[in-house]
Amino acid sequence: MAEVIWGLATSHVPSIGAAMDRQKTDDTNWMDLFEGYAPARAWLAEHRPDVAIVVYNDHANGIDLDFVPTFGLGTAERYPVADEGFGPRQVPEVVGDPDLSLHLLECLMDEGFDLTVFQALDVDHGLTVPLSVWTPDPGDAWPCPVVPVLVNVIQYPQPTAARCYALGEALGRAIRSYRDGVTVGILGTGGMSHQLAGSRAGFINPEFDRMWMETIETDPAKLATLSREDLIRQAGSEGIELIMWLVMRGAMSEQITKIHSHYFVPASNTAAGLALFDNRVPQPEPVPGPPPREKALT
Ligand code: DHB
Ligand code: FE
Repeated sequence: MAEVIWGLATSHVPSIGAAMDRQKTDDTNWMDLFEGYAPARAWLAEHRPDVAIVVYNDHANGIDLDFVPTFGLGTAERYPVADEGFGPRQVPEVVGDPDLSLHLLECLMDEGFDLTVFQALDVDHGLTVPLSVWTPDPGDAWPCPVVPVLVNVIQYPQPTAARCYALGEALGRAIRSYRDGVTVGILGTGGMSHQLAGSRAGFINPEFDRMWMETIETDPAKLATLSREDLIRQAGSEGIELIMWLVMRGAMSEQITKIHSHYFVPASNTAAGLALFDNRVPQPEPVPGPPPREKALT
């Protein structure tokens, strides 16, 4: 049985990556954000998994807007860093794990999740910024291979929060049925509240964000009842990215332990959040059900 050892939820705001790439992390505007990351980064450096699954969304950089799959999965050997208009970020190429990808694909298909398959994919800030939040100084390579799981959060109608949570639960079962001894870190990316355009541009809802941050740990099923419209209304048109945290959470155990969390406003014109959870927690005994009823004799 393979095991999810941790889950990391983090915003993917592109300017967070740019601040790191341009050595601006000690500037007064950025210092508090990056100081808030430090305890999570230190813990993660001590808990390197064999492979990471990154649940993320592309922003029309790797995938043409004419073809936006609701859910997708990368099966490539390597994922080049996308050029988002200023040249690709100077960070390592992302190395894939086709063997795990194909296992997940088969299991998820069998459970009724018909994922679009990406045999080639350039990965944008949605994936590379979370990797930088985890590992600020990767050197020549990220800490481990990565399997990208893609969710459409940019074109209406996005999948429901409930469907994302169910995908996460199926993903958890698929991971556990993989090769013995393999350790997995899972990242849920995007958020927190933000709206980049329109009359509510700059909309941020700290009260909602704090509720989400707490409830993702304790009662994710409750968050999964929120409708797409609830999410857009309360978190902003781009804040709906938070549904990707539910895919991560669904793949984790019922009980998890928070290692660290951090909330910061504003990064760009966005609320940024990070929450790191240990998944290696003893689970409560299942509540015994009523004894099986005797079959009526016919
Ligand atoms: C920005 C872009 C994003 O994709 C996001 O999730 C938050 C902020 C931005 O361009 O500022
Ligand atoms: Fe985004």
